[in-house]
Formats: sequence, structure tokens, C-alpha cells
Amino acid sequence: MKNTPIDFDIVKQTLKEAGIKDVSTASIREIVHVVSIIEKLTGEKYIRMEMGVPGLPTPEIGIKAEINALNSGVASIYAKLDGIPELKNEVSRFVKQFLDIDVDAGYCMPTVGATQGAMALFMVANRTSKDRNGTLFIDPGFPVQKQQCKALGHSYGSFDVYDYRGNKLHDKLESVLKEGNYSSILYSNPNNPSWICFTDKELKIIGELATKYDVIVIEDLAYFGMDFRKDFSKPGETPYQPTVAKYTDNWTMLISSSKVFSYAGQRIGMAVISPTIFNRKYPDLKRYYSSDSFGHSFVFGGLYSLSAGVCHSAQFGLTAMLKASNDGNYNFKEVLIEYGERAKKMKKLFIDNGFKIVYDKDEDKPIADGFYFTFSYPGMSGSELTEKLIYYGISAISLKITGSLREEGLRACMSQIKPFQFKVLEHRLKEFNKNN
Ligand SMILES: Cc1ncc(COP(=O)(O)O)c(C=O)c1O
Repeated sequence: MKNTPIDFDIVKQTLKEAGIKDVSTASIREIVHVVSIIEKLTGEKYIRMEMGVPGLPTPEIGIKAEINALNSGVASIYAKLDGIPELKNEVSRFVKQFLDIDVDAGYCMPTVGATQGAMALFMVANRTSKDRNGTLFIDPGFPVQKQQCKALGHSYGSFDVYDYRGNKLHDKLESVLKEGNYSSILYSNPNNPSWICFTDKELKIIGELATKYDVIVIEDLAYFGMDFRKDFSKPGETPYQPTVAKYTDNWTMLISSSKVFSYAGQRIGMAVISPTIFNRKYPDLKRYYSSDSFGHSFVFGGLYSLSAGVCHSAQFGLTAMLKASNDGNYNFKEVLIEYGERAKKMKKLFIDNGFKIVYDKDEDKPIADGFYFTFSYPGMSGSELTEKLIYYGISAISLKITGSLREEGLRACMSQIKPFQFKVLEHRLKEFNKNN
């Protein structure tokens, strides 16, 4: 083990000093921290696959619009809580052009990233009934969202969808919803971390059961349009990004701008709420908010108490990028496909060196090449693999923290890998395979 690409003693000592007993339960930011220290101490660059930071530049059009907005003086003025009209209008158009869902601008709100959108939706959806208060996560998933439920004092449950794809999802989901504990269901699609994408059949199952058991779906579209097997980037044309909104009125959705427009630093996303839910009255909401209306509680109870609105200039930046996409003047797929190309090459390097893809199929089809993939090394636990790879200059996170039962698995993120690093990655994976 001592003959590793990164100095063995430095790695060992740094892990010890960081006080991380089991890297598989370390948070993403903890791994980032430790690996950054090792890079500094050894002067060696890691193949950094642990964090989902966008690795592409923000479209010029967004940056220019934001600068113009700042120059026009918006920084000194509070933006409206539920968003500037221009942005609300473009979100509504975006949802029509790329999801084929009709929803007026009034139901479209900016949030401080999809992260805040989720928090605000939990704050309202999970308080609609005094007899239920939790979220069912269809896992694997984004750990922060469970942290948010915890911070709010909401209960949550989850199941790993790995064994419940296609028709099998129906009975599993129904068996859980039947218990009547949950107010909401959350999943991301495409999924972080596994990059599985629900098929229309699966979304129909989720939608119909949400209606049957009167549960609100929070559909997290953080990776909007990034199932590159299809082209969802042509406004107003099929195919459209699949959505549960086609199959139930009990939908809410989160659309992040972080990945689709590489706008993560500006912390702006969108929450869109179905008119049925937005206008519905839930008397139990009055325990927390001044109104029994879902929409009113979301804006004046949720968004107001969390941040009193969203960065004014970023709203103009996002408006411009949405408008360009809606008008067919900016094609996000042409830019984002870079992640898919990296994934294809990297998956091959892993497979050629003895690794396996863990979540490998959507029903009978191989998963898409996109922002993430999951991998394992036969005979090795996820925690052993996460730690060993650090000695080989490769950092990734264990699936353990994502609610996955595939404990042998790790998540690889494509965003920070530059094509010139493929040779280094290949060499390190070869060494790893040889020594293990
Ligand atoms: C599944 C999922 N949901 C939500 C988010 C948060 O997105 P935002 O940057 O818009 O807050 C992320 C970010 O990585 C994510 O992976």
C-alpha cells in the first residue's frame, strides 16, 4: 500500500489530523477540505470528483444583464418577494417551452437556489396537515435536503429506488404512502448522485399515487435538461423534459440555474407551484402562517422569513438567460454536453480498470452520460474504496451519505475534470487496479 501515486505518509497523517474516522460518512465539504490540504502539502493535483460545482463558464448574456442591472441601481432596492415580473414571466415561458406545462407567471417564483426553494417548500408542504409532517425521499439523494427537514423538525423517510424501477415502483411507493405519514415526496431527476432518470412510466406512477394519497410532489430539476440521450433543448418542440406535472395536479418543482446556466455562485433558482396546490386552502397551515393558502404561506411565510427575496441583480441575469433559451437564441445542451462527453470517457477508463458502474440502467436502458456516475470496485467496501482512492490522487464521495443501500458505491462528478487530466486519471486507475 505504501507505493501509491500520492505520498502515503502525508495522506495518512492528514486524514488522521482531520479527525475523519470513516471517509464514507464524511460530508462532501470535509472531503474537499482534506484533499485541498493534501494537494498543498504534496504539490500534486487530484482528480477531483467529490463536489458538484459547475465547471463551465456562465453565458455572457447573463453576466451582461446582471452588470447592466447593477449599473442601473437595483442593488439599493429590495426586489419583490415573489420575484421581478420579467423573471416570473420568463420562468412561466420556460416551463411551457421546455416542459410543455402551462402555468401563469404568478405561480413562478425565484428562490435563493433550489436549496432555498426546497427549504421553503418543506416549510409549507410539511405543515399542511397536523396529522402528517414528513417528506418521503426517493433515494439516492442530495444530503442537504434531509438536513433541511431535520433542521425544521420534520420527520422523513426514504427508500433506495435501485430495486424498484419500472412497475416495481408502484407497489413499493404505495406501501409507504399508505401509512399516511408523509406530506411530500421528493426526488431529483436526473438524479444526484446516481444519474438515473425516471421514465414516463415511473413519473406516472409517482403522480397517480401522489393524487391518490393526497401527497405533494417536490420534483427537483436541479439538472434540468441534462439527460443527454434526448435533446430537450429546443423550445416548444418534443421531446420535453419529463415531469410528474403531466400526471398529477399535486406538483411543485424546483429548477436550479446552477448547472443549466452555470450560475451557482449567484444563488438563484426557481420554484414553480401547480395552481391547484398554490390556491388550495389548508386550515392546518394557520398554526404557522397568517393564511391557510399554500401560495400565500409559501411567499409570505417561507420566502419572506428565509431571505426576504432573492438578489435583485441576479434576477435580471437569470431573466436574460431564460429569455434567450425561450426565444431559441441560446442552446443549453450544446454547452452542457461537455459533461456528457467527459462522463463517457471517464466511465470507460474506470470500467477498463476493473471498476463497475453501480446504478447502470433506467429500466432496460443504460443510464445517460452526464454530470455524475456511480462506481464500485468488486470486493471492496465503499468506505475502503473512498479512502484508498485518496492515496491514488482521486477524490470522490461515498454513496452512504446519499441514502443509497449500495454501500459499495461512490459518486464521481464530471464537472471539475479537464480533458488534459484523463491521462493522469488513467495512470492512477491502472496503478490502483494493479495493486488491488
Ligand atoms: C439534487 C440537487 N438539488 C438541489 C441542488 C441545489 O441547487 P442550487 O445550487 O440551485 O441551490 C443541488 C446542487 O448540487 C442538487 O444536486
